[in-house]
Amino acid sequence: MNISENKVIDESIQGQALVLDTVKTGGKKLFLESYGCQMNFSDSEIVASILIDKGYTTTQNFEEADVIFVNTCAIREGAESKVRNRLNDFKRVKAKNPKALVGVLGCMAERLKHQFLEQEKLVDIVVGPDAYRDLPNLLDQAEEGHRAINVILSKEETYADLTPVRLGSNGVTAFISITRGCDNMCSFCVVPFTRGRERSRDPESIINEAKDLFARGYREVTLLGQNVDSYLYSGGGLKKETLTEEQKANSVTFAQLLEKVALIHPDLRVRFSTSHPKDMNDEVLHTMAKHENICNNIHLPVQSGNSRVLEMMNRGYTREWYMSRINAIRNILPDCGISTDIITGFCSETEEEHLETLSLMEFVQYDFAYMFMYSERPKTLAERKYEDNVPEPVKKRRLQEVVDLQRKLSGIRTEKGLGKVHRVLAEGFSKKSDDMLMGRNSQNSVVVFPKENYKKGDYVNVMVTECTSSTLIGKVIGKEETGQ
Ligand code: 5AD
Ligand code: SF4
Repeated sequence: MNISENKVIDESIQGQALVLDTVKTGGKKLFLESYGCQMNFSDSEIVASILIDKGYTTTQNFEEADVIFVNTCAIREGAESKVRNRLNDFKRVKAKNPKALVGVLGCMAERLKHQFLEQEKLVDIVVGPDAYRDLPNLLDQAEEGHRAINVILSKEETYADLTPVRLGSNGVTAFISITRGCDNMCSFCVVPFTRGRERSRDPESIINEAKDLFARGYREVTLLGQNVDSYLYSGGGLKKETLTEEQKANSVTFAQLLEKVALIHPDLRVRFSTSHPKDMNDEVLHTMAKHENICNNIHLPVQSGNSRVLEMMNRGYTREWYMSRINAIRNILPDCGISTDIITGFCSETEEEHLETLSLMEFVQYDFAYMFMYSERPKTLAERKYEDNVPEPVKKRRLQEVVDLQRKLSGIRTEKGLGKVHRVLAEGFSKKSDDMLMGRNSQNSVVVFPKENYKKGDYVNVMVTECTSSTLIGKVIGKEETGQ
């Protein structure tokens, strides 16, 4: 695996056209393509919900669309370039069908605001992540020939009352947003500028959404937020930073929310992402240990294994603190999968500091990692304060070292799964064959097995006998009856 072909690195900038499961006819056709993180995919389901309510249907073919929306990511420069190329493809559609409308949604819309409409004239509509309720109105404006923009960030919007329309869904697993925005201000990150202040969604609405999904046959929900551990809901529109100690004590914490969702039904699996090392507490770990249906998997981005670099990144923890969190996970949840995000070549990172990232990876033995070269983003603290002075070839070489090590660690993890029985939730056909089903074990490893009479949504016990570098392969030795 070399850097250019490493899916792990490119995954966050792959676009995916999102369509409804059932094809509806009539109405205007919406082509909706999403880039970036799961949060963006989850937002696209809100966007679809709003527009389907207005009579739209979805299409997979942008050439026949009346409205083309790209939900964008601004996290690294590469993600933005990809979207720009796509916008040029869409320009061709407008040449053929001048009535077609093109809109940019999400983080890039928020970051570049008027630039798309005025300087670049690439699009008709620009909408930030907190303004999706305004879409019908903006579409009307654009249809009348006005350029339409709403990039106002909100301190309250959580879209709590909207039921997302599940797009490109397997009917078994779904994402539920629990917080929006981020207050952490990591110095490299553009998210606090594009997604605004952190706010937590009403737990009632989260639980109702999960219950409704379960009733419709879904068997796994992933609770999503930039930093799920800082979830705190106090009701009455109260802001976290203004709460008294008493109000805090009466608020719903992430651990409590997790438990409430886990209690919906033992056959509803619960996952969550992303955890922040500075906020992930033992209460969450104990809640995970207490409920069988909370999956044993934690995504805990480390970013760097060196304390000086972490300080410059404004991450709020040291190497030692991170290691102590890993020890807590290993003590409380011995069987827990751990994944991470790593950035190589952050401003002034030395060779020794890079080696500390490698040694930390060895210490943790990550199951999986998203690995990136540092990409300077406009307006961030790092852009204003530090020089982006690690030469590109050095960043790249360090990244390759991180990737190579992670490949070794992932291989160890996969091999450890051999000869064991894994409880797997079947999600659908495997990529390679319709005779095989794929699913995941609790630790989030992909497991493939012969279909026989099993179907998606089934929990099965698979004895793993073979593996590739990242996939476990085996045979079902027993189906678990639901309701146990
Ligand atoms: N450069 C490289 N990687 C970044 N990430 C966030 N901002 C940047 C950047 N400027 C990575 C971090 C984060 C993940 C979502 O993206 O690792 O955890
Ligand atoms: Fe960005 Fe840090 Fe917030 Fe994650 S926690 S979204 S890296 S600012």
